Amino acid sequence: MGLLRSSPSLSLVCLLLLPLLLFLSSVAAVVGRAGEDDPTIRTMEEFSGYPFRESPSWAEADSLFSLSVESENLQKQIDELASFSDTPAPSVTRILYTDKDVTARRYVKNLMGLAGLSVREDAVGNIFGRWEGLEPELPAVATGSHMDAIPYSGKYDGVVGVLGAIEAINVLRRLGFKPKRSLEIIVFTSEEPTRFGISCLGSRLMAGSEALLKALETTIDNQNISFLDTAKSAGYAQDPVDLTSVFLKKGAYAGFVELHIEQGPILEEEGVSIGIVTAIAAPASIKVDFEGSGGHAGAVLMPYRNDAGLAVAELALAVEKHVLESGSIDTVGTVGILQLHPGAINSIPSKSHLEIDTRDIDEERRNAVMEKIRQSAIRIAKDRVVKLAEFKIVNQDPPALSDESVIRAMESASKDLKLSHKLMISRAYHDSLFMARVSPMGMIFIPCYKGYSHKPEEHSSIQDITNGVKVLALTLAKLSLK
Ligand code: GLV
Ligand code: MN
Ligand code: MN
Repeated sequence: MGLLRSSPSLSLVCLLLLPLLLFLSSVAAVVGRAGEDDPTIRTMEEFSGYPFRESPSWAEADSLFSLSVESENLQKQIDELASFSDTPAPSVTRILYTDKDVTARRYVKNLMGLAGLSVREDAVGNIFGRWEGLEPELPAVATGSHMDAIPYSGKYDGVVGVLGAIEAINVLRRLGFKPKRSLEIIVFTSEEPTRFGISCLGSRLMAGSEALLKALETTIDNQNISFLDTAKSAGYAQDPVDLTSVFLKKGAYAGFVELHIEQGPILEEEGVSIGIVTAIAAPASIKVDFEGSGGHAGAVLMPYRNDAGLAVAELALAVEKHVLESGSIDTVGTVGILQLHPGAINSIPSKSHLEIDTRDIDEERRNAVMEKIRQSAIRIAKDRVVKLAEFKIVNQDPPALSDESVIRAMESASKDLKLSHKLMISRAYHDSLFMARVSPMGMIFIPCYKGYSHKPEEHSSIQDITNGVKVLALTLAKLSLK
């Protein structure tokens, strides 16, 4: 070394090579610890006097601005996955453990395998694809989302965070990156509550929900098929059934980042490429049943009726009233399911059922609305002389905050990539809500057309998706080297 330094001609060569060496230093840092014992890298370090392995500026190197996302291929995969649907295009309907869901799972597991990930599934079908890091004993960094789709929805909700994650891994592999912490992709089972009325079923269980564990023993769908039977028919929950095996320990991951379409209009309206989520609003859902006397639509005169249908209609309007009374634009409430029995035009409904979804970024305010809804249900039953057969709070989840360290990594990745970004909250819920209980969490949002979601018109441009994948790839890389 001393000899080399003292040679004037070699010093000159070194000077001329400095730009190249600086470039290589960033790449060497990307290659990380893999290069630690590499004699070429050791020699380069000696020449340049730069500690390659410690360079904090690797993410700013030109090479990283052009992270090579195979966008066309990614769009093709998104379209292909959308074809596994129980309703015609452009709508997508993919319900938990149906044939289409199982086919979609097979498709994604295959892509994970092609990306060189080792794939495993837990007892409820959460899918994990792991890229072993150089220090596999450290908690991994995870990303992922869901691919079930509510009836007549679109093809981007959840899917962008699944296929985009696989592409992010491919991007890093093509770059020659070697993660220090292992990287994992998680495809969560049933983020949507469609089949069993339970939202974020997979991640809620991963986060250790004892209440869910118990509920799943008796949960049935609207065809009276039990959760456990459907899970078994899809190849999960095999005997002996031990769903506690799904639980994760706190700190199981060093970080979790979910890429998702915004499902709101802000990014598109403001022309911002990336949303960095700081918090997820608090969701809750309630099921209500009324029972009346029923009877003949012509023969039973109005004063003698106990109409369960009108009770449920009145409660639906009360939900809107109580939500608006909160005085905040952030309080929302929806009655998305309303059923009457026996459902004949000439029969007074003897039973009625409705399901209420209410959310707020302020948990106390949301809880106050829920209490008002409960009081209204009691009053309506009394006034209309029907029975309030059930008022069941299915879930009443608190909001979740993103972790500062993950926010910083996402911000710095967006800056490195020169993508406009803003901090924002998520009004939709995500599996990240529950991952926040076992891991530092963050979410990357990309714009979607007019904020449309949960309907067939849902759309994100491939350019926006590509940007999201790049930010995800770089964020994962940064977190994996910590
Ligand atoms: C998720 O799909 C939600 O309803 O927010
Ligand atoms: Mn959704
Ligand atoms: Mn989603």
